[in-house]
Amino acid sequence: MNPALIVALDVPSAKEMEEALERLPDRIEWYKVGLELFCAVGPDILTPLKKRNKKIFMDLKLHDIPRTVANAVKTAASHGVNLMTVHAIGGRAMLEAAAGAARESANPPKLVAVTTLTSLNEEDFRDLGISRTLSDQAAALGELAISSGIDGLVTSAHEAGVLRKKFPDALLVTPGIRMPGGDTGDQKRVATPSFAVQQGATHLVVGRPILRAEDPAAVAEAIFADIKSAP
Ligand code: C5P
Repeated sequence: MNPALIVALDVPSAKEMEEALERLPDRIEWYKVGLELFCAVGPDILTPLKKRNKKIFMDLKLHDIPRTVANAVKTAASHGVNLMTVHAIGGRAMLEAAAGAARESANPPKLVAVTTLTSLNEEDFRDLGISRTLSDQAAALGELAISSGIDGLVTSAHEAGVLRKKFPDALLVTPGIRMPGGDTGDQKRVATPSFAVQQGATHLVVGRPILRAEDPAAVAEAIFADIKSAP
């Protein structure tokens, strides 16, 4: 599979999304809609993307009882979403229900699991009563998600190589992508597009480096070229 670039539409309104779309080349096939934009506008936010024949990554990180998550996946699938996130910590029954709901949809979306939020540290783990290390927890939850029928994982590019060996067929979605020498923003563990691809990433999520650029189209083209340069 050719690695895909997903542009994260981290903007607060439909108007700003339209403005961003106008500045970006047709070549970008994938867009991510997250909680901020989805809560601001609702499912209508997907319409302009579908009109442009774009693929949609809906990043709502679902975590609830199995039935509720399954119904949310079913509804999102009916809206034409192609990729969605769930929290692996929701447990096996929730993950299996989500995977089952996706499979039964007329246009099944792929599901990827978040193992551990990157905002958490070992101190948070103590508060949560989790005695594993961060990396052991991520590995265990990755195994749980994949063995429950989830299609892949959200991961830093730095852990993608290990996950690729463990899960040869999994989708690996990597945020925290920056061009060499680019501003890292609040991302601590960044990687270049070609590094992420070398490590086995299938979908690269990029937000601010494209959206905040003076020339977003040029940055997107540079990212496509860097992806292509990966050996
Ligand atoms: O602007 P930037 O390229 O840092 O955006 C990355 C996107 O990936 C954001 O939409 C953010 O929510 C998401 N993300 C992340 N780090 C994670 C998980 C998701 O940056 N660990």
